[in-house]
Amino acid sequence: MSAATKQIRQILKGHRCLDIIGRTFVKSGANMSSEIEKKFALPRRFAGSEKSVWVEYIQLASEYNPLNLGQGFPDFPPPKYATDALAKVATGENYMIHQYTRGFGHPRLVAALAKLYSQLIGREINPQTEIVTTLGAYEALYSTITGHVDDGDEVIIIEPFFDCYEPMVKYAGGVPRFIPLRLKSEVKGRLPSSGDYVLDPNELESMFNTKTKIIILNTPNNPLGKVFTEKELVHIADLCKKWNVLCISDEVYEWLVFKPNKHIRIATLPGMWERTLTIGSAGKTFSLTGWKLGWVYGPANLMVNIQMIHQNSVYTGVTPIQEAAAIGFETELPRLGTDECYFISMPKELEKKRDYTVKFLSDVGMVPIVPEGGYFIIADWSPLESRVDINSEKDKYKDYRFTKWMTKNVGLQGIPPTAFYSVAHKPLAENTVRYCFMKKDENLAKAAEILNKWKNSK
Ligand SMILES: Cc1ncc(COP(=O)(O)O)c(C=O)c1O
Repeated sequence: MSAATKQIRQILKGHRCLDIIGRTFVKSGANMSSEIEKKFALPRRFAGSEKSVWVEYIQLASEYNPLNLGQGFPDFPPPKYATDALAKVATGENYMIHQYTRGFGHPRLVAALAKLYSQLIGREINPQTEIVTTLGAYEALYSTITGHVDDGDEVIIIEPFFDCYEPMVKYAGGVPRFIPLRLKSEVKGRLPSSGDYVLDPNELESMFNTKTKIIILNTPNNPLGKVFTEKELVHIADLCKKWNVLCISDEVYEWLVFKPNKHIRIATLPGMWERTLTIGSAGKTFSLTGWKLGWVYGPANLMVNIQMIHQNSVYTGVTPIQEAAAIGFETELPRLGTDECYFISMPKELEKKRDYTVKFLSDVGMVPIVPEGGYFIIADWSPLESRVDINSEKDKYKDYRFTKWMTKNVGLQGIPPTAFYSVAHKPLAENTVRYCFMKKDENLAKAAEILNKWKNSK
């Protein structure tokens, strides 16, 4: 055998070998990957929360490039003093502002928050023990829910609800119990208002039992815009006291309330301070949602549970952002209640945007539910049903089909409100769409133009 042939055989042998090794590898790789899949699947307690309306609709917007009234943030600048403060903090001489700050809240910020809420609540709030600052109201909700819900605890959630409440309760081992706001009686001769949506008092009472640990309240409510009245809050408070239940009050839209409605902090009702944890957001307060700064305040004995979760999950918030937000509050504190105060001027501006949005939605034939607060509006699109080919979309719920069809064919994006309901109550919202009106006037005018053009094209 020539040296060359020997070499070729050697190579082929090598190839056979490689082939066998390769096949074995592929086979064991396949086993391995299914084993990996099995062992590293999403933990069971998170099951059911894989689908996110936000992920899906951001993707939809990037594909079809509609005018986006879906996402809940302003498309105009925040107050100048806030961005100036951040710039000054970032480039100032105090380089220690770029290092970790106190875990439970940057001292200058908790001092400002304590000053503000002591006035609003009518009792002295201790900045050291009665406030924790967090990474957005999201983390405030997470640390508050995780820090208080035990296995099997029942948590009452009022629908429609900010969509993370349900998964957060489940992650903590709790059992969500849902109660929807329902239209109290047929509305004739005017548009419905978010105030027409109420909890049935008997149904509410029937939700409470010895396993009830928490009720989550959101006033003003996202997405309906309902501002709970004193009477409604007193009923909730009485049930909380009767059944020894904690109230988590998500008040991120506390300043965005339209006249003549008034934001009432449930913590101020008799006997409620000791059983209420109230959540706020700098993102919503100063129109800068990207800062992701939130807080919780409440009695010290309940705050310790929140501190525990916070210290072991995020430990501390972003120092420069907290410093700049503190400057923001220090700017507003002396002018609280006056016309120059952003917390007064912003809702006035927003009310005009609300009215404009109500008008252009009505003009196209939808029936908007006029919100009393917040920056979202829900509208019934069913009068337009014959003009939309929603069945060309494949989703289970009609509002998903409607919003997708509108995004693709009309160029205006909203959010499907069934995302804010439990499975049992989704049918209540299938004929509706949610739009955000915290947008530049020119973009709201564009939305009006898009809808008007569509109306006239049919
Ligand atoms: C009702 C409600 N709670 C909490 C949050 C979260 O706020 P943040 O952006 O401060 O995390 C939002 C945000 O849209 C909200 O609408």
